[in-house]
Amino acid sequence: MKQQVSIIAIFLFLTSHSMLPGHAHEVTFYGHNNCPFPIWPATAPNTGHPVVADGGFYLAPGETRSMIVPSPWNGRVWGRTGCNFTSNRQPACETGDCDGRLACNGSIGTPPVTLVQIALQAEKGKPNFYDVSLVDGYNLPISVTTRQSSTPKCSIGGCSKDLKYLCPQELQVRNKDGDVVACRSACLAFNVDSFCCRNQYGTPEKCKPTVYSKIFKDACPSYYSYAYDRPPPLINCEGKEYVITFCPSAWGTAHTTI
Ligand SMILES: *[C@@H]1O[C@H](CO)[C@@H](O)[C@H](O)[C@H]1NC(C)=O
Ligand SMILES: *[C@@H]1O[C@H](CO)[C@@H](O)[C@H](O)[C@H]1NC(C)=O
Repeated sequence: MKQQVSIIAIFLFLTSHSMLPGHAHEVTFYGHNNCPFPIWPATAPNTGHPVVADGGFYLAPGETRSMIVPSPWNGRVWGRTGCNFTSNRQPACETGDCDGRLACNGSIGTPPVTLVQIALQAEKGKPNFYDVSLVDGYNLPISVTTRQSSTPKCSIGGCSKDLKYLCPQELQVRNKDGDVVACRSACLAFNVDSFCCRNQYGTPEKCKPTVYSKIFKDACPSYYSYAYDRPPPLINCEGKEYVITFCPSAWGTAHTTI
């Protein structure tokens, strides 16, 4: 019995490492919490891709945790704030909640949230694609870089201004204490074709920046501020290790300064 197990193990080793060259490798994303408060990062795969890092976990200020992602993989990463999983309160988080659970297990988060969208290619040596999107709104600034020798081509910077304080009243999301915890996109808030780039506005030529998307772009120039943002702020970059930093600038929710 023992021998059988080890033969299977060797077979799996051979198939993954030599018989199918370039297939089924792994990419590591390091989630780093630079916010002066705890966050609960979360991941959700697109249909047909596996759940990564249980779909979510706790990350104290200053902490880093790795997420091993098999490739090919398509999905998203976001940060949840103001969570409390000890009660059965739903939602359990002020932003980014997924059914009140710590481990999202494939569920996507409730917008508005700042989203990191990732597409890893199956073949080693092929570039991976990623972007940061405010198409559904904003809750935290996030940066993405390669871990070693961060090249500008591979980097998405954070925001130059705190969008929570620039968020127009009609887009604000407040917690029970009245603090602004997130900013909805105009599409999310008003759900009309011109803001959502749908129907007769469903092309880059027809869907133009708006007074709302311009506020987002001004605060976070390297993110998608609306669906047809041009030129597309999409990164393609070869790499095996990336760092996703929440609050790369030293601010996030609340009027906290550190
Ligand atoms: C979480 O919720 C429980 C139950 O409502 C409460 O007793 C506790 O103080 C809360 N924890 C925090 C950190 O707010
Ligand atoms: C996670 O999702 C899978 C697939 O939908 C399901 O089979 C499993 O029961 C879920 N686990 C938990 C803890 O909810």
